[in-house]
Amino acid sequence: MLDNKKSPIGIFDSGYGGLTVLEEIVKHLPQYDYIYLGDNARAPYGTRSFETVYEYTLQCVRQLFSMGCELVILACNTSSAKALRSIQQNDLPLISPIKRVLGVIRPTTEIVGKYSKNGHVGILGTAGTIASNSYPIEIKKFFPHFEVVQEACPMWVPLVENNEFNNEGADYYIQKNIISLLSKDKDIDTVILGCTHYPLLINKIKKYLPPHISILSQGEIIANSLADYLKRHSDLEKKCSKGGGDIEFYTTDAPDNFNNAALLFYGRVIKSMHINL
Ligand code: DGL
Repeated sequence: MLDNKKSPIGIFDSGYGGLTVLEEIVKHLPQYDYIYLGDNARAPYGTRSFETVYEYTLQCVRQLFSMGCELVILACNTSSAKALRSIQQNDLPLISPIKRVLGVIRPTTEIVGKYSKNGHVGILGTAGTIASNSYPIEIKKFFPHFEVVQEACPMWVPLVENNEFNNEGADYYIQKNIISLLSKDKDIDTVILGCTHYPLLINKIKKYLPPHISILSQGEIIANSLADYLKRHSDLEKKCSKGGGDIEFYTTDAPDNFNNAALLFYGRVIKSMHINL
């Protein structure tokens, strides 16, 4: 267990997907300590209602706060889309005026203008993220003239979770959703992978997306944005413990399953612990 006085950065995801974000964060900011919490017992979040995603996410954020985190990153797009705003506006002022919770949608949307030359952007995400309209709303704040179309890909997370992402079944669904996205706007020049699982499908996504289309995957974007945030918030940065990259992994489901999945999502052997919420 990390020393109670320490304040690791909390990284939350509904399950394994956030490990792709954690990997990039640790690569860019290896000096900090981290706690990763995956709510595997209640994943997937992508098909759940606003109220449920909010309730689950808030519970996990509270858990990470109770473990010493001053700063929590919602590495999950679905939580960022459905719970972040309520937590920031309604819950945080009551829980603690100094603790912070950040998401992954805003950092992705604020830099999309660097990639898109013609302002035509496509979003791929879970049903929940797409239904929330968070990506189009946020992109329009930064780039009001941009055209944004979206496609919900409800089968993509199960394909990854069931280790089917290299098989033919994955080709069927990936091609189907990409054709559907492109049919909504033939001028798309940039596609955002708005789900933490999708980097694992990158080879097949590239197979069906025309090569001139830029693909934005979030890990590195979130890592850079966090580095910038910590630079601008020195009081919070000082509180983040720097024990040389101590990382603890917690799952609400079976640690063995989590450890196996981590080989896939995180590319290394880890030893996770079970946590009851
Ligand atoms: N991690 C979620 C996201 O980024 C996808 C997985 C889920 O549906 O729980 O949207």
